[in-house]
Amino acid sequence: MNLPFLKKKDAVAFDIGSNSIKLVQMSQTKKGWELTKLGMAELPPEAIVDGSIIDSMTVTNTLKDLIREHGVKVKDAVSSLTGHSVIIKKVSFPAMSEEELADSIQWEAEQYIPFPITDVNIDFQILGADTEGRGQMDVMLVAVKKDVINDYTNVIKEAGLNPVVIDVDSFALENMMEINYPVAPGENIAMVNIGASITSISVIFAGLTIFTRSIPMGGNQFTEEIQRQLNVSFKDAEEMKTGKKAEGETPIAPAVESIASNLTFEVKRSLDFFLGGSQGSYVSKIYLSGGGSLAPGLKDLMQEKTTIPAEVVNPFKNVEANPKHFDKEKLKDSAPFFAVAVGLATRRFADR
Ligand SMILES: Nc1ncnc2c1ncn2[C@@H]1O[C@H](COP(=O)(O)OP(=O)(O)OP(=O)(O)O)[C@@H](O)[C@H]1O
Ligand SMILES: [Mg+2]
Repeated sequence: MNLPFLKKKDAVAFDIGSNSIKLVQMSQTKKGWELTKLGMAELPPEAIVDGSIIDSMTVTNTLKDLIREHGVKVKDAVSSLTGHSVIIKKVSFPAMSEEELADSIQWEAEQYIPFPITDVNIDFQILGADTEGRGQMDVMLVAVKKDVINDYTNVIKEAGLNPVVIDVDSFALENMMEINYPVAPGENIAMVNIGASITSISVIFAGLTIFTRSIPMGGNQFTEEIQRQLNVSFKDAEEMKTGKKAEGETPIAPAVESIASNLTFEVKRSLDFFLGGSQGSYVSKIYLSGGGSLAPGLKDLMQEKTTIPAEVVNPFKNVEANPKHFDKEKLKDSAPFFAVAVGLATRRFADR
């Protein structure tokens, strides 16, 4: 029920990546989702390393620039993190209610978390009773290091906004899928988000993320391999890779292919691991996102090596974008970059 006086406030979403910050704001209308703001600003290479904010001043200033440039008026902001400061594990607990688990989660979770329990924020999602009927239930346990969350909330506060939710990339992707690609019941689909420094892999079943893994690889590895093979600077290699600069005499294709092949191997390994642990199941499709998914030939290689159909997602598929404000072609070209941010932008204050 959507009573007007209960209308939830729009929030602005920031996907703060190591290569760039993505800004998305959407409104929920009678017809569905409508894009209201969209922006992206690059960060220098040292600002965020391994999913942690190193240079908070630069990140804050970049956020401020984006807020100013796009005339952001709302005060609530949502963001997310990924990488090794996030631990997501499927565990088995004695069957109990959500309330009971909320009360005992700190204690129950302790044995599964490789950090002191006081250093992490714990969240969970009950996935349902386990199939062996031992009075147990499957739970997705999520632990995020408090100091890393604090760094993300602080840059948002410093930029003048109110951080209401710090989510995890994989869960934002789950929300993005929900509005754009509803998954058929009984079907597992895989999400592979290839950023600049981190690739996150997850499997969604019945609308819930049931497996995740992140690997410290992404677009940067492609650039570094081009740099190495062609003996050029990182900047030149990056520009050749993204087509901003013409290739020289030596083609970049062999470098791109060799990294695409490594990355595909890692994705296949993760999916094989997932499938090995859940008898009789299969993954019917791989959805690619993140700027790294634009690497030429990657999608085809992924398809070929995993024998699973692959597609680069369009997070704006079911999102209305007024052509007066948003250039259709530009939106299409940049779509893969915004998968996480669109998912975040569906979150509402008082949501979940
Ligand atoms: N046309 C292209 N072909 C190949 N790679 C590209 C292209 N355009 C951008 N990229 C790469 O995409 C990466 C940036 O993607 P994205 O914005 O998803 O990363 P990020 O979110 O900033 O990083 P991370 O999530 O790893 O912290 C960069 O490595 C960039 O070189
Ligand atoms: Mg990213």
